[in-house]
Amino acid sequence: MLMSRAAEWLSPHVSMPPEELLSRLEVPPRKEMGDLSLPCFPLVKAWRQAPQAIAEGLAERINASGTEEIRAAAAGGYLNLFFAADHWKSDIVNRARAADYGSSGLGSGQRVVIDLSSPNIAKPFGVGHLRSTMIGNALANLYRACGYEVVTVNHLGDWGTQFGKLISAYRRWGSGEALRKEPIRESLRLYVKFHEEAEREPALEEEGREAFAQLERGDPEALRLWRFFVDESSKEFRRVYERLGVGFDHWTGESFYNDKIADVVNELEKLSLLEEDDGARIVRLEERGMPPCLILKKDGSTIYAVRDLATALYRRNVLGADTILYVVGAEQSLHFQQVFAVLDKMGHAWSAECRHVPFGLMTMNGKKMSTRKGKVVFLEEVLDEAVQRARQIIDEKNPELPDKERVSQAVGVGAIVFGDLKHHRQLSVDFDLEDAVSFDGETGPYVQYAYARICALLRRGRFEELRGKHAVNGAHLASEEAWECLKTLDRFEPIIREAVAENEPFLVARFLLDLAQSFNRFYNAGRILGGDADEAEIASKLGLASAVASTLKRGLGLLGIEAPEEM
Ligand code: ARG
Repeated sequence: MLMSRAAEWLSPHVSMPPEELLSRLEVPPRKEMGDLSLPCFPLVKAWRQAPQAIAEGLAERINASGTEEIRAAAAGGYLNLFFAADHWKSDIVNRARAADYGSSGLGSGQRVVIDLSSPNIAKPFGVGHLRSTMIGNALANLYRACGYEVVTVNHLGDWGTQFGKLISAYRRWGSGEALRKEPIRESLRLYVKFHEEAEREPALEEEGREAFAQLERGDPEALRLWRFFVDESSKEFRRVYERLGVGFDHWTGESFYNDKIADVVNELEKLSLLEEDDGARIVRLEERGMPPCLILKKDGSTIYAVRDLATALYRRNVLGADTILYVVGAEQSLHFQQVFAVLDKMGHAWSAECRHVPFGLMTMNGKKMSTRKGKVVFLEEVLDEAVQRARQIIDEKNPELPDKERVSQAVGVGAIVFGDLKHHRQLSVDFDLEDAVSFDGETGPYVQYAYARICALLRRGRFEELRGKHAVNGAHLASEEAWECLKTLDRFEPIIREAVAENEPFLVARFLLDLAQSFNRFYNAGRILGGDADEAEIASKLGLASAVASTLKRGLGLLGIEAPEEM
């Protein structure tokens, strides 16, 4: 970062810590006044001199220090600084080429647990879960890049009354063979049938409730069926995660906390927080302007909220979380506010470090994904279609490409992921598959394509050979467009920090679009290869190109997107 590097560099001359300088440095209104300036008026008291005298003294000291990086001049009580652009240009290029460019130690010593994806067993992996998976995975990568220790948890929805319904539906109409073949479709069929039949035969609801009660009591046959559902659905989920390139440190679903719930209930009891309400047990939250949090149902069965209380305690006490992020749709905001409020009432001040990271709804070409009526768009179908479209474009654009299948996968999946991550997460978006897969416009394939084109340029210009002979020289990057591109490149690290501070991966997606566009402007402003440029000049320009390429690749990687070298 130009500004912070300047602040660090200036610090000893002004005897002021860099952080303080950073807040004092200003960008002057006119170019002639330099690239940055330091107003000296606030120093008058401490330095016992007039502002102009302070500025002159500093300028003299800096110019005499023999540095070539910055030249200083005093004017009207300001210390104006002029960067020796050539020096800073090569500096930016060299830093950006490092494999870990953009990383920092911001979060070192801090452990973040991220709850992400968390689909429900026996139900399709919906768009909400896709969003949670992609946003959560990007956040995990971004936090890691900032030096945090990250633990990711897939909080599978593998417990709850719906399993009672499923068990009784399976006992009535199910077959092991059908379930093994297509676990989620078959579960869904049973689930839908259960609801249809229950409308005619209300006693079914009672049967479902009883089956869940058997489960909670640990009935072996019910448990065996439940295990079977969980295992089969998980296989299908794993296939999706593999395609998306996402992994988890823990696959601990809601059932994992079954034996930890009694302690929570006892603790709530001991603290006199539990109240009876029409047979159910609740914690009142009126004083916080919220409806009560239901802890146990009338029949004593556990619900989602109490499982989340046990989960939070486990993450704090066993996993050692300093911060817990819950990447879950905005429709669950009240649930999380209630859970955090109950934790706070239990005396856990760390509940302030529990954060719901909500996101908006997404529809696919106008279609909602819902499970109730069994009318669903399956994520795998969406992925397949995106891959197929990517394949069509590649067949047209580059019929000779080797490894078309693998590249189409990377582009199709990348299109979906980028299309999801390029918006403020809270916005609801309608996803248009055709737009998302296009190689032009604000898309993942556009960024991937920019990367592949730079790789081709570097091969054509034999950059690997040239770089050994010539170091990057800023004087060869003299165009206005080169400077704009360099300044964009320079923003990568602060963008990552900001994305982490706001839990907004879209900042990185936008940055990648900006970077690809600003490189294209540089590229179009004057030819790099051919013409009458000498080798050293070509090497410098390709040096910038390679820095942009590696930053695009690194940025896509942080978002969970592959960057094929040819496409
Ligand atoms: N399985 C839930 C759902 O699909 C999401 C779980 C989110 N995580 C949590 N700790 N509550 O709605």
